[in-house]
Amino acid sequence: MAYRICIIPGDGIGPEVISAAVEVLEAFKLDLRFAEAEAGWETFQKRSRSVPEETLQKIGESDATLFGAVSSPLQRVEGYRSAIITMRQAFDLYANVRPVKSLPISISRQGIDLVIYRENTEDLYIGKEIELDNGDTTEAVRRITRRGCERILRAAFQAARKRKRKLTYVHKANVLPITDGLFKRVALELAQQFPDIEVNEMLVDTMAMRLIREPENFDVIVTTNLFGDILSDEASELVGGLGIVASANIGDTIAIFEPVHGSAPDIAGRGVANPVAAILSASMMLDYLGYSRESERLYSSICDTLASGALTSDLGGDATTKELVREIIERLIS
Ligand code: NAI
Ligand code: MG
Repeated sequence: MAYRICIIPGDGIGPEVISAAVEVLEAFKLDLRFAEAEAGWETFQKRSRSVPEETLQKIGESDATLFGAVSSPLQRVEGYRSAIITMRQAFDLYANVRPVKSLPISISRQGIDLVIYRENTEDLYIGKEIELDNGDTTEAVRRITRRGCERILRAAFQAARKRKRKLTYVHKANVLPITDGLFKRVALELAQQFPDIEVNEMLVDTMAMRLIREPENFDVIVTTNLFGDILSDEASELVGGLGIVASANIGDTIAIFEPVHGSAPDIAGRGVANPVAAILSASMMLDYLGYSRESERLYSSICDTLASGALTSDLGGDATTKELVREIIERLIS
């Protein structure tokens, strides 16, 4: 049976890294049918929507979606909403899964193999901000629900069961006893249902520090939306930076895979973007679709390519996006 894959290149380096990932996927000669859709800032400028209706429809009809990156304006623009947040909320993609694993390159610290489970639909990201006092006072709503906590925690506990059976839940309940108090309560309830998992609790500021000090001691880290956003960028830096870290946005029936990085306007259009994060996202997508052997083969080809010294400039080398793709495909088919 053919799998339908929706491809959303987006803005900046998005199209460069996504066409790299598609080229690598095509080298497997699997029965994948690609359908392209648009989203992002350029789309908004043309159509007054960052995610048009037909893009949502294509994602809904596909077995999985591979998304590049989009730009967002720095100032508030009337009617504009971040494309990726729109898609996550439209499909209720509640689990943002971000694996961070050492790679065979000199700038990666060794011995790290952790995964961050970040709640993806609520917290401050519901976008409820208000101005009071002529804009001199501002407030944002932080929504945390039992349902939101429960499903991200359950996904994290289940992942821990397939991994090293260690889970750390991260919060700031000492300062936010109501919202993070709920997250903590639900974490403790779930811990009862997973007695085989070693469970630890950590305040988010301590977590930020311990990630630098002893990242090799963590397995599954689960937290709310904003904390997860920040901790995952921090963690990516331990293993080589944004150019290599992949992620999945997973809901009950829909999943969108994307590199953690943004549209990198500073290097866009020069053919030097690191495609590894996008290709690793494609590898996560293969695993999700049931192609676990292909996913592993792709992962090893990426590691072998990097170990051989083929590196883009963010990793200290001078290889182009296309050269990296060629090297990875050569190792895949040999
Ligand atoms: P960014 O991730 O785009 O770039 C940060 C730095 O990392 C830049 O110096 C960039 O050149 C470098 N970098 C990122 N990806 C790279 C790659 N694959 N290869 C080599 N170098 C890479 O973050 P920044 O600059 O804060 O944001 C730029 C735009 O991206 C903004 O409009 C922002 O809103 C958007 N953004 C979009 C995201 C998404 O689509 N999921 C996530 C984060 C930011
Ligand atoms: Mg981020």
